[in-house]
Amino acid sequence: MKILTFAGSLRKDSLNKKLCGVVSEIVKKNNLAEIEFVDLQPLNIPVYDGDIEASTGIPAGVQQLAQKITEAQALIICTPEYNGSIPGILKNTIDWLSRLKPVSLAGKPALLLAASPGALGGVRSLWHSRQPFDVLGTQLYPEMMGVGKAHETITPEKTLNDAKLQANLERLVKDYITHAKKLV
Ligand SMILES: Cc1cc2nc3c(=O)[nH]c(=O)nc-3n(C[C@H](O)[C@H](O)[C@H](O)COP(=O)(O)O)c2cc1C
Repeated sequence: MKILTFAGSLRKDSLNKKLCGVVSEIVKKNNLAEIEFVDLQPLNIPVYDGDIEASTGIPAGVQQLAQKITEAQALIICTPEYNGSIPGILKNTIDWLSRLKPVSLAGKPALLLAASPGALGGVRSLWHSRQPFDVLGTQLYPEMMGVGKAHETITPEKTLNDAKLQANLERLVKDYITHAKKLV
């Protein structure tokens, strides 16, 4: 099974990109699947504008991401929380992806995770992020997890320095992959 992981953040020091790294280590260490991280920043996806779509079509970065999603059998998405909700970068990416038919996200199993320097770990974003994926027919895994105080918790070795949290994340990733394998 091939898994694609990406973050709803563009910045290079993104905690959510780092959480993608923690998840990738868990997947590799336990030989659970193949996993590829895709950085949205170099894809240069513009803010959705119907005039861009009408004049020049779907941007190349959107097409590249859709191709990678199509080639993967499962997704793990790590998202920030902005003002208690889904960050614009993730919503904008989903909106563009929805314009390319067939929609790459349709029917795809997906696990949603969040990382935040705040104590709540971005869980409010997780709930709001489910909505557009659900509308597009993404098969969202019911369980989600937010990593709070992520700037202190995520280590350079791509682990969580809280043993209980690390064990919880490993259990969740393993359960999700077992579930996703049944769907493909
Ligand atoms: C516009 C904006 C709104 C934010 N709102 C929240 C919020 O509601 N809850 C939260 O936990 N953190 C919030 N933050 C802080 C982010 O969690 C923090 O910047 C985080 O590092 C962003 O994720 P990233 O590191 O993956 O880029 C906000 C940050 C920005 C820039």
